[in-house]
Amino acid sequence: MNILVLGSGGREHALAWAIKQNPKCDRLIVAPGNAGIAALAECADIDIFSGSEVVSFCEENAIDFVVVGPEAPLAVGIADDLRAAGILTFGPSAAAARLEASKAFTKEICDACNAPTAGYARFTEAAPAKAYIEANGAPIVIKADGLAAGKGVIVAMTLEEALSGIDDMFGGEFGDAGAEVVIEEFMEGEEASFFILSDGVNILPVGTAQDHKRVGDGDTGPNTGGMGAYSPAPVLTDAIAQAALDEIVLPTVREMARRGTPFQGVLYAGLMIKDGKARLVEYNVRFGDPECQALMMRMGAQALDVLLACARGELDKAQVNWADDHALSVVMAANGYPGAYAKGSEIKGLAALPEDSMNMVFHAGTKAAEGRILSNGGRVLNITARGATIEEARARAYAMVDQIDWPEGFCRRDIGWRAL
Ligand code: AMP
Ligand code: GLY
Repeated sequence: MNILVLGSGGREHALAWAIKQNPKCDRLIVAPGNAGIAALAECADIDIFSGSEVVSFCEENAIDFVVVGPEAPLAVGIADDLRAAGILTFGPSAAAARLEASKAFTKEICDACNAPTAGYARFTEAAPAKAYIEANGAPIVIKADGLAAGKGVIVAMTLEEALSGIDDMFGGEFGDAGAEVVIEEFMEGEEASFFILSDGVNILPVGTAQDHKRVGDGDTGPNTGGMGAYSPAPVLTDAIAQAALDEIVLPTVREMARRGTPFQGVLYAGLMIKDGKARLVEYNVRFGDPECQALMMRMGAQALDVLLACARGELDKAQVNWADDHALSVVMAANGYPGAYAKGSEIKGLAALPEDSMNMVFHAGTKAAEGRILSNGGRVLNITARGATIEEARARAYAMVDQIDWPEGFCRRDIGWRAL
């Protein structure tokens, strides 16, 4: 079959890499793609926010299946447009993507199905929001309702921080996303990510992972999109994972179906785990980045089979055959990230690195220029490895990192520390 992946990051590189290994895949196109993706798939420069452009492209290229990587095109209905045109698609409708696009909506769903999550209140004006904060005290969490590229959450440890956070939100710092604000109880515990495919009715768990959000070693410094991840996450034991499915994920999937907006795609449940119990922090409606890179490394070619089963509504017949393995991905970012950084520096040493089922360098933000690979974003490379243990996966990943010659980039040296 001919397959189109939408997106341009390390997540999409990993998805393309896994899909390509499956003999069902004939032609593979990624739009818009990046320099690393171009080594294994065709790249097409189309506007992935334009339903008509993507649908025409699929028709012209006889595309049989589309996999949507990022949330933003889902939130504006790219999957609706594709399905309306009769094209098999992996990814939720705009109505179902509200589980990521609106924090208040997710809370409403949790209320409706009794899923354990932080207590909360919703506000559209600063004065009552501040009064609520004064009444509840710190620590407290303030969230812009809408999509804010992972930046719309303030975990305020003091009252002052919380109150000035309200001023930022209603002052327009997050644009329209901050027009409504959700204020939440601060949850203590250890965070983990749980990835579950849903075809609207049936679900299939496809792995657990832990991310490292802070830029610096020891979880210090500002928040980022994620500086590294590993899978599985030992904190999500089988018992906690099963309880999370029974109490959070399945009730959500049923509630979405009951409302006539079934969720079809991958549900990324961000969980807070304490005393053997999981509560929902948030949903995302796509794979995590860089969590996906570790998951794909473990799943390999099977990924295409389960994505297809999900899109076809046949998850009840699907399964993943897990090896008893671990994968870990280290993000290399441009110096300065998550603040201001330069683009266009040359990355050397990549050609000498192994590319096999145990070792892969996924490109997140690169471009090719006259045979050279140049940085082209904040998060630039995802150095990903697999092993029988997390120690082994980690040693392999850092052995690759150490062969990369890129003075304009950096990475954390402690990815995986919680599991070690
Ligand atoms: P979110 O975008 O909702 O995942 O929030 C970003 C990060 O803020 C999460 O990964 C958590 O580390 C933290 N966070 C969000 N909500 C809460 C909460 N209610 N209690 C504690 N930490 C939270
Ligand atoms: N790594 C966090 C995310 O994809 O949202």
